Amino acid sequence: MKKIAVLTSGGDAPGMNAAIRAVVRYGIDKGLKVMGVRRGYAGLINGEIFEMTRHSVSDIIHRGGTILKTARCEEMKTEEGRKKAVNVLNVFGIDGLIIIGGDGSFKGAQVLSKLGVATIGLPGTIDNDLAYTDVTIGFDTALNTVLDAINKIRDTSSSHERVSVVEVMGRNCGDIALYSSIAGGAEKVIIPEKGYDLNDLCKTILEGKRRGKLHNLVILAEGVGGAKELASKVEEITGIESRATVLGHIQRGGHPSSFDRILASRLGARAVDLLIEGKSSRVVGRRDGAIIDMDIDEALSMKSEVNEELYELSRILSY
Ligand code: F6P
Repeated sequence: MKKIAVLTSGGDAPGMNAAIRAVVRYGIDKGLKVMGVRRGYAGLINGEIFEMTRHSVSDIIHRGGTILKTARCEEMKTEEGRKKAVNVLNVFGIDGLIIIGGDGSFKGAQVLSKLGVATIGLPGTIDNDLAYTDVTIGFDTALNTVLDAINKIRDTSSSHERVSVVEVMGRNCGDIALYSSIAGGAEKVIIPEKGYDLNDLCKTILEGKRRGKLHNLVILAEGVGGAKELASKVEEITGIESRATVLGHIQRGGHPSSFDRILASRLGARAVDLLIEGKSSRVVGRRDGAIIDMDIDEALSMKSEVNEELYELSRILSY
């Protein structure tokens, strides 16, 4: 292993820059040449590759986004695109590739490894939807961004004695919604893994009002439906004024938290070590506080499950 490359792919996540920095500096420290690939797999296919130095990752540890840029690449899903990617890696003499991204990006890594490329995946997504790892890079920061917004919405919601439906990201995984509902003291959380019953929701809201609750915060994961639609249905049924807030892409940006920076740094270093040890087709993650690695096929076959204990806790504590 003499020359490795790193790319970021899929939706960006705070902490991706800290991971890039760790790969570059740790790799150089171990005597490797480290290349950066711009724009994810799309850039790989187009040969957008350049050498990185210790200096090229200066002053990025605190920044959100990714200095390498990112993309969702349809071409990588075709056989032709994959062949082009392998070819480019060969032309540049790259022996190993580190992919920072979510499940879609890992599928690309899986295919490339089957085509003979040494690949290691780093979990970079705010969704926290990769079952093999307790946490993904960016989740903690996104959670704190959501929490900050919920705190503010709670103020105005209390003043007006309204229902506030707050829509958060997470596609098929309700972790951002679930964890932020507990941390933010929300009255109700709605996640794709569980769904909801509109009449039950309205009953809970009305009962809360009767018991003297000043506001009702409902955290809705985007995969279940739209906040606007839900807020207007709630208002119609309960007669309580309701407002919707869609947090959107603010959840993807901002300074990464210390947790995400440290996680990203540790995972980046482990990924380099694995390539040096001649390992391939693996992903790195964190379990019970320890950095772990696992076969990529096994990791992708694991189904992300909702934390039942937290879901129940959220219900009990919201009463
Ligand atoms: O996967 C990360 C994520 O932020 C999801 O939570 C969200 O559904 C999606 O990406 C949004 O994607 P885009 O960047 O294409 O708007």
